[in-house]
Amino acid sequence: MQSEMNQRVLLKKRPNGMPSVDDFELVNHYLDDIEEGEILIKIQYLSADPYQRGLLAENPLRGTVLEIGSVIPGGAVGEVLVSRNPNFKSGQMVEGRLGWQKFAKSDGIGIRKIDPNLAPIPSSLGVLGMPGMTAYFGFLEVCLPVPGDVVVVSAAAGAVGSLVGQIAKIMGCKVVGISGSLQKKTYLLETLNFDAVINYKTQDVDKTLRDECPEGIDVYFDNVGGIISDMVISQLNVGGRVAVCGQISLYNLSEPELAPRFLSTLIYRNIRIEGFVVSKWNSRYPEGITRMAKWIKEGLIQYEEHVIHGLENAPQGLIDVLSGNNLGKVIIKI
Ligand SMILES: NC(=O)c1ccc[n+]([C@@H]2O[C@H](COP(=O)([O-])OP(=O)(O)OC[C@H]3O[C@@H](n4cnc5c(N)ncnc54)[C@H](OP(=O)(O)O)[C@@H]3O)[C@@H](O)[C@H]2O)c1
Repeated sequence: MQSEMNQRVLLKKRPNGMPSVDDFELVNHYLDDIEEGEILIKIQYLSADPYQRGLLAENPLRGTVLEIGSVIPGGAVGEVLVSRNPNFKSGQMVEGRLGWQKFAKSDGIGIRKIDPNLAPIPSSLGVLGMPGMTAYFGFLEVCLPVPGDVVVVSAAAGAVGSLVGQIAKIMGCKVVGISGSLQKKTYLLETLNFDAVINYKTQDVDKTLRDECPEGIDVYFDNVGGIISDMVISQLNVGGRVAVCGQISLYNLSEPELAPRFLSTLIYRNIRIEGFVVSKWNSRYPEGITRMAKWIKEGLIQYEEHVIHGLENAPQGLIDVLSGNNLGKVIIKI
């Protein structure tokens, strides 16, 4: 395969604020030989996810810094073309952190085999992949919902948020979403049957939450952080639970935001607030995928994909997810 040409998207310069397509470059690159123990994967779909913004920055929270000129790391799904690894056969569909490129070489570590009969292949980057497992385990294991709970979820029309809301409905909760457009609000109310939705760009979030949740809030699944989360947390009931999943409103800030200090609220109302990274449930993915696939087949879970065409447009996929141009999971079709 040495003479085959790969195409890859590299980090050209660190974004300042919201990334721009000029921060990336598409380059051609000869494929290396496949060594004993390795596989060669032809990528069909890539993922664009908010966490990638953190990888592009010099962010001490993440430890490692992506060097300029590196391939953009990211989830991908594709077909094994060549296998010199006994655990994989050619023709098998696999998913893993393969990066933004057309072909990827791997030693098989961290590579998951996909069952194409469960749902269409791109779903392994969304509802049956990392975002789906984030919603499933993050909500059920951290928020510990009980029927009748009032659940608020932010970035509610996104890959994770739209699934959290639907799982909460399955669990018998009242669900209030927060999102940023009329189109998203209509989708959440009319297609996903959320009980209420607040458009944070046009409505007073604090007041509308009080109107929609006169009984207070029991659970908050936080995808955005910032002022929206301050307002939700201030309305939590005694025994409230908060899953801190993401803080997307902060990802493009160059200076930290000065926020209200709400920790005393946690004391007097016995509130538990817990952050998590989905990889803590890596070994339980099969359980989560089986249950989500069953709910999809039963019509209890629906999902949308925001599809971008062409590897060269992958950076636009990241810009879309960070700026809210997406409804559901952002997928790049190669
Ligand atoms: N902890 C984990 O393991 C884990 C795993 C996956 C994802 N996450 C986090 O979960 C969150 C959602 O991820 P996702 O992949 O499902 O993305 P997503 O919700 O599909 O897309 C992100 C959404 O965030 C909203 N948003 C962007 N800027 C905002 C702002 N300033 N204020 C409020 N909302 C804003 C946009 O929707 P609007 O139109 O509504 O603004 C956008 O569509 C992210 O914070 C991500 O980092 C965490």
